[in-house]
Amino acid sequence: MNIFPSPTQRLNPFDFYAMMRKKHPIEYDEVNDVYGIFRYNDISKCFTDFKNFSSDFTKWFNSTNADSFTKFQASSPIGPSLITSDPPRHRNLRNSISEAFNPRQISMLEPKIEKITHDLLEKVIQNKNMDLIQDLAYPLPVIIIAELLGIPNEDHHKFKKWADQIISLSILLNKNSQEVFENNYKLKQEMNSYFISIIDIKKRDPKNDLISGLIKSSVLNVNDNDVQNDANKEGELTQIQQQKTKDSFVLSREDILSFCNLLLLAGHVTTVNLIGNIFLSLFENPKQFKLLQSNPSEYIRPTIEETLRYKSPVQFLSRIVTKDIEMGKGEEKMQLKKGKRVILWIGSANRDETIFTNAEQFDITRNLINHIGFGAGIHLCIGAPLARLEAQVVLKVLLKMLKDIELDTAKAGSVTPVNSMIIHGIEHLPINFEINNK
Ligand code: HEM
Repeated sequence: MNIFPSPTQRLNPFDFYAMMRKKHPIEYDEVNDVYGIFRYNDISKCFTDFKNFSSDFTKWFNSTNADSFTKFQASSPIGPSLITSDPPRHRNLRNSISEAFNPRQISMLEPKIEKITHDLLEKVIQNKNMDLIQDLAYPLPVIIIAELLGIPNEDHHKFKKWADQIISLSILLNKNSQEVFENNYKLKQEMNSYFISIIDIKKRDPKNDLISGLIKSSVLNVNDNDVQNDANKEGELTQIQQQKTKDSFVLSREDILSFCNLLLLAGHVTTVNLIGNIFLSLFENPKQFKLLQSNPSEYIRPTIEETLRYKSPVQFLSRIVTKDIEMGKGEEKMQLKKGKRVILWIGSANRDETIFTNAEQFDITRNLINHIGFGAGIHLCIGAPLARLEAQVVLKVLLKMLKDIELDTAKAGSVTPVNSMIIHGIEHLPINFEINNK
């Protein structure tokens, strides 16, 4: 049976999930050749069991679909990366960026995030209305990721353009046409040749940013000729051999490129939709909005956590089964076959009534510690401290600068779902407000 909610259920897939949790918690979808898992405990097990549930998608492609694999490798904007790797490679890759994402390091970005939020609001504040997504939630994370990587200001527009393109990519939309393949391929070439030139500049003139840091622990720092050799190939994808010794791990240039692309993809659209979903949930639950406004310092953080549970920006993740394995109990028991894909429905797990009391209610007073909006296990979102900080700053600044904030009901028709199966959120959120002069 179909394990995906229909496109008409995008804004509200939750009844579908509730039915699946009850009647088909572990199900095989013959048409899409994929298993779906819907209950919190089963999903948590898969997240922690990385040996049997792999993130490495090369294990999915085999001799029968080798052609798709070649296409996937050539056109996937990220390519093999942190998020698609298993231990021990995963641990090595994660270690190389973990310092940049530790909460202490991230907290130093707060003044910058505050200034950007303030400036974005200043641009629209006199109108007394705005599109919260397009005017604020969308531009903020892309500027921050560009800053983090060390992209020069004058190139931020390029970065934003790629972010737009990535958001409409096949991996999100699940399309598989020749046109999509060609567009992805072109985009990948464009991004790679840009980042190759940035890497080259930063190799000669390192700054205090993530790309410069990655270069330091890479093969580019070891062998001076590599950049030159690779530059001669005009951005063509060359894999510099990864140098591994017994105790050390050295990044390749390809790894650095993958990080740049991954961070743009993983850190942008997710944060946009977290911010959008926070406000949508508040508009749908006016009493909760009032409560938040009555005491922002107490309720900002719980509001963010509750939104990550209630309207999780990432609705599902997938894994590859690495050996035949049995899941479930009694009649619900199911044999999962080696080499098949499994869809883990985060959006459903976070509404599991056996874990969360009144799971279908948006309640910012719940003492929430166990949602899996950022995943779980070894791949737990490394950008979580940054996403949380951006959302906190947006709520703080917006509630300070604006008052009488309400959904612009005349434009409510534009509150349409993001055209994605993975990402849960809306394209626009038109609001009216007054300026807070206090
Ligand atoms: C609300 C915003 C965000 C949500 C909901 C979110 C969600 C997730 C989830 C569910 C995973 C687990 C993937 C898996 O297990 O396969 C993940 C991993 C990841 N996220 Fe996020 N993310 C957000 C923001 C960010 C930001 C801001 C960044 C960086 C700028 C980021 C970078 C990453 C990376 C690099 C991984 C891979 C970690 C690994 O494989 O070890 N994310 N994210």
